Amino acid sequence: MINLTLLGATGSIGQSTLAVVDLHPDQFNVFAISAHTNWQKMLKLCKKYQPTFAVMTDKSAAAKLSENIQVDTKVLSGPQSLNIIASHTNTDYVMAAIVGAAGMASSLAAAKAGKRIMLANKESLVLAGDIFMQAVKDHDAELIPVDSEHSAIFQCLQGGRSGLSKIQLTASGGPFLHTPLSELRAITPDQACAHPNWSMGRKISVDSATMMNKGLEVIEAHYLFNLPADNIDVVMHPQSIIHSSVYFSDGSTLSQLGNPDMRTVISYAMSYPERINSGVDALDLTQHTPLEFYTPDFEKFSCLGLAFEALRQGGSAMGTINAANEIAVENFLNNKIKFLDIANIIEKTLEQSSHFYPESLTEVIDNDRTARAIANEIVQSYV
Ligand SMILES: NC(=O)c1ccc[n+]([C@@H]2O[C@H](COP(=O)([O-])OP(=O)(O)OC[C@H]3O[C@@H](n4cnc5c(N)ncnc54)[C@H](OP(=O)(O)O)[C@@H]3O)[C@@H](O)[C@H]2O)c1
Repeated sequence: MINLTLLGATGSIGQSTLAVVDLHPDQFNVFAISAHTNWQKMLKLCKKYQPTFAVMTDKSAAAKLSENIQVDTKVLSGPQSLNIIASHTNTDYVMAAIVGAAGMASSLAAAKAGKRIMLANKESLVLAGDIFMQAVKDHDAELIPVDSEHSAIFQCLQGGRSGLSKIQLTASGGPFLHTPLSELRAITPDQACAHPNWSMGRKISVDSATMMNKGLEVIEAHYLFNLPADNIDVVMHPQSIIHSSVYFSDGSTLSQLGNPDMRTVISYAMSYPERINSGVDALDLTQHTPLEFYTPDFEKFSCLGLAFEALRQGGSAMGTINAANEIAVENFLNNKIKFLDIANIIEKTLEQSSHFYPESLTEVIDNDRTARAIANEIVQSYV
C-alpha cells in the first residue's frame, strides 16, 4: 500500500487525484491532506478518507476543522505543517498541488526527504528551479511531472534522449485564441476562466487565457528536461489532444495524445513506470478532426514572450515575473484591473526589479516578497 500525501487536496488537481485513488483503494492510502481555508471541504475529505494528518495552513480554518472533526485525524495548522507531512517518514508519494508560490517550500521539503514528488506546483521550479533540482539530485528524490505537457514529454523521452533536438509544448490558446487583441481589454474574470477544454482553478485558468501559464511551463520544461530556451518551442493546438512533442535529429517526432483530463497525467505519476486505469475514456481520433496547429501570436499573448525573456535572463527574473503575475491575476479576479493590464504590470515589475542569482530559499522568498511589493505599487496606478 502506497501512502499518499496530498498537498492542495481541495483543489482541482487534488480532487482529480482523489478520483484516481477511489479507483484503486487497494493500492493507495490517503495518509495526509492539506488545504488553506476550505475547512468544510476538508471535513468531508477527513470523513471519507480518514487520513492520519489534515493540515489547514490558515490558523482559524484549522481551529474550525478541529472543532468539527469526528474522526481520528490529527489536525495541524500553519504553513510549516506542510513540510511535516511532505517529509514524514510514512509518506511515500507527495502530490504537490498547492497553487502558487505557497507550494514551493513543501515541494522542496519533499525533495529533501527523498520522496516521489508528483509535481503540479510549477512555481517550485519557476521560483527555485536550480535549488529544487539540486535537492532532488542530492537526496535521490523522484520527480514526476503533473502537467499535461511535461508528462507528455516525460513519456516521449522514456526511450532515451539520443538525438533530441527540441521539445515542443502545445498550447490550446485558452478562450481567446481567435479573439482580436482589440477586444481583450473588456474581458471579465468569468470569461477568462471559461477554458474551452480544461476544467481548472481560477488562477491557472486566467494564466491560460493570458498564456502566462504556457510561459511558466516553458520555464518548468527548462528545468525538468535540462534544455535551454532555444530548444523549447510552443505551438497553438486548440483541441488539446496532442499534449506535447519531442523532436529528434533524424526527423522523427514523438507526441503523446489523449483526452484533455488531468486524471491521465495524475494516474501516470502515481503508477509510473506502470500504467493503471485513470477513469478517462480512450481517445477517439475521429471525434476531434481536424487537429489544428498555429504559430503563437506573441503580440496578443505578450505574457508568453515575457516568460521567455525571464528564462533567458535567468536567476531572479523568473521569480519576479511569477510574483508580479500572481498579484496582477488576483487584482484582475477582484475586478480591480483589466485583462490587458496583467501583462503590463508584469513587464513593469521586471523592469523595476533588480536582477541577481538566488543561492538560497531565503533569497528566493525575499525576491518574491520584493517583486510582490513592486507589483502592488504598480497595480495602484491602474485601479
Ligand atoms: N488544474 C489543473 O488542471 C492543473 C494542470 C497542471 C498544473 N496545475 C498546477 O497545479 C497547482 C494547483 O492547481 P489547481 O488548479 O488544482 O488549483 P486550485 O484548484 O486553485 O487549488 C489550490 C489548492 O491549494 C490550496 N491553497 C491555496 N492557497 C494556499 C496557500 N496560501 N497555502 C496553502 N495551500 C493553499 C487550496 O486550498 P483551499 O481550497 O483551502 O483554498 C487548494 O487545495 C498549480 O500550481 C497549477 O499551476 C494545475
